[in-house]
Amino acid sequence: MEYLLNSEEMKRCDETTIQKIGMPSMVLMERAALSVVEELTSFDLTRVLVVCGSGNNGADGYAVARLLHLQNIKVDVLFVGDEQKRTTENKQQQKIAEYYGVSSVKEIENNPYTTIVDALFGIGLSRPLSGKYLEIIEQVNQAEGEILSVDIPSGISADNGKVMENAMKATLTVTFAFRKLGLVLYPGAEYAGSIKVKDIGITKAGFERIFPKIYTYTSEDLERIPKRHSYSNKGTYGKIVVIAGSKNMSGAAYFSAKAAYRMGAGLVRIVTPEENRQILQTLLPEAIVTTYQRNQLEGDWLTEAINWGSAIVIGPGMGVSEEAKYLLSKLLSISKVPLVIDADAITIVAKEPELLHDHGQKIIMTPHLGEMSRLTGKPIPEIADDIIEVAEKFAAEKKLTCVLKDARTIVTEGAGNTYVNTSGNNGMATGGTGDVLTGVIVGLLAQGLSVAEAARLGVYIHGLAGDAAASKKGPYGLLADDVCDAINEVVR
Ligand code: ACO
Repeated sequence: MEYLLNSEEMKRCDETTIQKIGMPSMVLMERAALSVVEELTSFDLTRVLVVCGSGNNGADGYAVARLLHLQNIKVDVLFVGDEQKRTTENKQQQKIAEYYGVSSVKEIENNPYTTIVDALFGIGLSRPLSGKYLEIIEQVNQAEGEILSVDIPSGISADNGKVMENAMKATLTVTFAFRKLGLVLYPGAEYAGSIKVKDIGITKAGFERIFPKIYTYTSEDLERIPKRHSYSNKGTYGKIVVIAGSKNMSGAAYFSAKAAYRMGAGLVRIVTPEENRQILQTLLPEAIVTTYQRNQLEGDWLTEAINWGSAIVIGPGMGVSEEAKYLLSKLLSISKVPLVIDADAITIVAKEPELLHDHGQKIIMTPHLGEMSRLTGKPIPEIADDIIEVAEKFAAEKKLTCVLKDARTIVTEGAGNTYVNTSGNNGMATGGTGDVLTGVIVGLLAQGLSVAEAARLGVYIHGLAGDAAASKKGPYGLLADDVCDAINEVVR
């Protein structure tokens, strides 16, 4: 598990290290600068420009320039800021750099630089940029040299990844102690390029007690996948009901059911219209198929099917017909096991929110931005802009686990415990991958994980499966089936 910090949290870590523990800020800066210089060895250092602001990020920049100069690298500093607002450390670092003979320039002349170090703003950026700051960012982005950003690309908000009018487009961002949220969320992630996290001695002690937490999973978290037991049978790994599909829509049911099996589920039963029987039995003979005829939903068969399952998913490819509404309301009224509400079932809930009133069940809901827009009435850009807050509020209000799907999927039960997914790639933006995700999540649920853990780990594994598939076939033309087939490779 890796914490992702906002600017306030990072400042508190800096303060604790400097004020409470007594580590001098100049020592932290020296270590920050040394780690930047280490990363610069992979850049063309024929001629380097370091752009420094008046805050402590600029102070780091002066230290970087000095260290490069001492290695006989041709380096200039360009100060862009307010002389009156230089911090104490900034003044000190400028003085030291001058003493060692680091040269400074007033503007980017003739663009001779092969590498530009961006130390204009770090996590202290607090408002949209204007005037000379925008001008320099424009010039640096147009220059030929590659950009290395110190801590975060200048112009990106560390809190949410928003571009504050414009931002440096880095090839590499060297950040310290923790990844910042703004480096992970879009569009910030796109500006950051590759990210290197460097330990410079900032203490993490006490962090877990202090902050509301936002975090992501790393490969170590795959240990959370339920273990197989030598003395076991298919009943040990759960019985899943996939209520999915409609006439002409059998694929969604197939992908969810297959992904659940790939995730290790013991038995999967698909509940779908009669028209889908043949194709599903052909594509996935491992599944039990229970079918119904349109307008013939009454009877005990549905209650029996629902009660059979130890985890249930409803919605993929189901449509929003009267039959679909009936299936959802029946499920919500009688089921006692964890549920995943996905796709068309979400659209039904958006139209009939009373279906969820006092549900008292363990529910995971998996909207994409469009479905969240239907659920909340908010326009999609507004949701994308505040993706974490929207997901947290929705989850808390509806008392469920929300999986808000986007390039960085958010999983939350409400503020204070929110997961931001960092696996996956743009090849997964294709039909059917959402159904695969639902299957992975329900597969984990059936093996006994809690709703929140199944949702987080499912999202993480699904992204890794996409990455594994893309590493073989490239992101272009990736199919949901490729992602599905890569699941057990990831688990292995
Ligand atoms: N336009 C103009 N000025 C702006 C804008 C804007 N849009 N937004 C913010 N500013 C100003 C702010 O007013 C602020 O100045 P103020 O504090 O006088 O108000 C300044 O820019 C903030 O500049 P930054 O360099 O981004 O922020 P800060 O001085 O907090 O330093 C930090 C950031 C800690 C250096 C971090 O990004 C970093 O690089 N850390 C590396 C590790 C390190 O060196 N840690 C120890 C540092 S010492 C310490 O923390 C005291």
